[in-house]
Amino acid sequence: TINQRVDSVIRLMTLDEKIGQLNQYSGREVTGPLVKQNANMLNDIKLGKVGSMLNVQGVQNTRHVQEVAMQSRLKIPLLFGMDVIHGYKTIFPVPLAESATWDMDLIRLSAHIAAKEAAAVGLHWTFAPMVDIARDPRWGRIMEGAGEDTYLGNYIAKARVLGFQGEKLGGLDAVMACAKHFAAYGASSSGRDYNDVEMSDHQLWEIYLPPFKAAVDAGAATFMSSFNTLNGVPTAASNYLQRDILKGKWKYSGFVVSDWGSIDQMIKWGYVGNKKDAALKAIISGCDMDMMSYSYLEHLKELVTTKQVSITLIDDAVKRILVKKFELGLFEDPYRFCNEEREKTELNNPEHVKATLKVAQKSIVLLKNQDAVLPIQKTVKNIALIGPLADSKRDMQGAWAGANEAERVVTLLKGLQQKLGQDVRITYVKGAPIKTNDTTGFAEAVKAAKNADLVIMALGEAYDQSGESRSRAEIGLPGSQDDLFTAVQSTGKPVVAVLMAGRPLIFNNIANKANAVLYAWFLGDQAGNAIADVLTGAVNPSGKLPVTFPRSVGQIPLTYNDYKTGHPYNANVFQYQTGYIDVPNAPRFAFGYGLSYTTFKYSDLKLDKTTMAKNGKITAGFTLTNTGSRAGEEVVQLYIHDPVASVVQPTKKLKGFQKVVLNPGESKSITFTIDNETLSFYNQQLKWDSEPGKFKVMIGGASDDLKLQADFELK
Ligand code: IFM
Repeated sequence: TINQRVDSVIRLMTLDEKIGQLNQYSGREVTGPLVKQNANMLNDIKLGKVGSMLNVQGVQNTRHVQEVAMQSRLKIPLLFGMDVIHGYKTIFPVPLAESATWDMDLIRLSAHIAAKEAAAVGLHWTFAPMVDIARDPRWGRIMEGAGEDTYLGNYIAKARVLGFQGEKLGGLDAVMACAKHFAAYGASSSGRDYNDVEMSDHQLWEIYLPPFKAAVDAGAATFMSSFNTLNGVPTAASNYLQRDILKGKWKYSGFVVSDWGSIDQMIKWGYVGNKKDAALKAIISGCDMDMMSYSYLEHLKELVTTKQVSITLIDDAVKRILVKKFELGLFEDPYRFCNEEREKTELNNPEHVKATLKVAQKSIVLLKNQDAVLPIQKTVKNIALIGPLADSKRDMQGAWAGANEAERVVTLLKGLQQKLGQDVRITYVKGAPIKTNDTTGFAEAVKAAKNADLVIMALGEAYDQSGESRSRAEIGLPGSQDDLFTAVQSTGKPVVAVLMAGRPLIFNNIANKANAVLYAWFLGDQAGNAIADVLTGAVNPSGKLPVTFPRSVGQIPLTYNDYKTGHPYNANVFQYQTGYIDVPNAPRFAFGYGLSYTTFKYSDLKLDKTTMAKNGKITAGFTLTNTGSRAGEEVVQLYIHDPVASVVQPTKKLKGFQKVVLNPGESKSITFTIDNETLSFYNQQLKWDSEPGKFKVMIGGASDDLKLQADFELK
């Protein structure tokens, strides 16, 4: 068995070699022409002091570095890892955008293609998926996750892990997944990256941990700890998270890698006084691999020889890592993933390009469509395309864009030109830069608008305004873009705003005054084609927001499933109610919201019983009808509310969703099954359980538009 083989390798290893397996270096400086200058790193590999490399990519480079590892005494192969977050060469929409599809097959396909391309360039491991629930759009890394909801996040975590790894590790079209960042990183205080997190156990278990558990259940080979502290403890030193929960309660058998330098950063946190103590805290509390802080390499040996760390702990960490190397088949053939032929055929394979187009089309969310200004009508012959994102390539790929090639991006200008052909004249004016205040282009933009039948404005963030260390305190349109919109909109011409960003932006002016608003996130290489397909009606939009869009920064954090209070919100009462005196409580656009070019009617909700036994089930059935004139897809959503509970419950919790395709006039019967799991929550003893009493079922097409409601009782 693999276990026996690993044990037999461990028996041969010296302490130095064991510690080497727990050390990960970055090869950013090792790849390419710099290899020779990095003789020290290569020398360390030869000496068996390195277990894994990150950022070495390409068959030639991974082969070269692996050859060096094969010169080490025990010839233990290296693991090559990299952040392949939403595509390696073929870039897909950013993860938050993909989450707006609510389509697990597509999300899985996207991860699978990313893995296929990564595996074809010699990589074994991606540092994804990020399964951090994120409820603060100021936090730049909200773009890397599945949004704010735990239930949706669980499904997406599973889809991504299975997409990256396949059902079983070892396929040549798959890489190891890494569920990150363990844990609660998405709740970084004030939305500032790398910040502290103070959180009740209740919230941790109810909201933030479940997607990690879903990743464990889906077989995620590795975990990464996070850059935050959790209740005063840096997570790489968290015994509670890594030993009690992950390796204890959840019986996790994979390994945990630190985040970049985070072991060493315990000194900066003021958690330890020196690097040796940092290494001690990390290894004892269950961090198996040190990413780029050299703490293990420099101090573990002394810690073991002075008996501060037992060799059993080291052996356990080594074993977890070697098991993965065996499962990947690297002991049989360390070069299995190095195949020039695959590298040529897989990268940007036409099938992958087709897939990213499809995912991009389905990620787009139609937020407003006054007087059915969209899809673009046949009578439109002159379009003014205005805005700094209309012909921008790199921005479409968003942050963490693998080994992207910006030249491959189809911009909105290009997409529209291809789609509309000669029939429609498109006048493109940039109008303003993305980030800086500059109004010199306004006059030309206004002129183009005046001469047009329809104006399309492509506005938003630059790709490097969301992502790691890209927190923003103001999340409006950067630079002078909002003023550009006002100048153009004042012409009185109909304006369609296409907004692109890695996070929810606040754009009240546009939401109020534009005739239509499409939220297009950062959609990857095929962004322009996908948006043009939706604008022209070749594709009917079906995306739904995976995260709440606030109307004011002061509302943040804002989620759809807030709690009831003793002073319920009442917009008509000025005092003594839970609200602001200057801004309503309601978001600008709610979680789960998104329009279509057709309309759907929800009717005839029936529960098959009015009481349910704890081990029983209730079926909620209703009819969905396409009441418009074109085919469309609707994400139907089921929410539950528990009105009286020993722990105060949110006003609603998503507990089911389905994507339904309907032709015009067509109706379908939809059913959801409700069971004890649906009704359970973490109680005061942190036990996952339900409590008898009344429950409310709510069904609709957005968290703030739940047309159907019914009650039942849990006995
Ligand atoms: O995987 C990332 C992590 O999300 C942030 N810090 C660096 C790691 C490796 O690149």
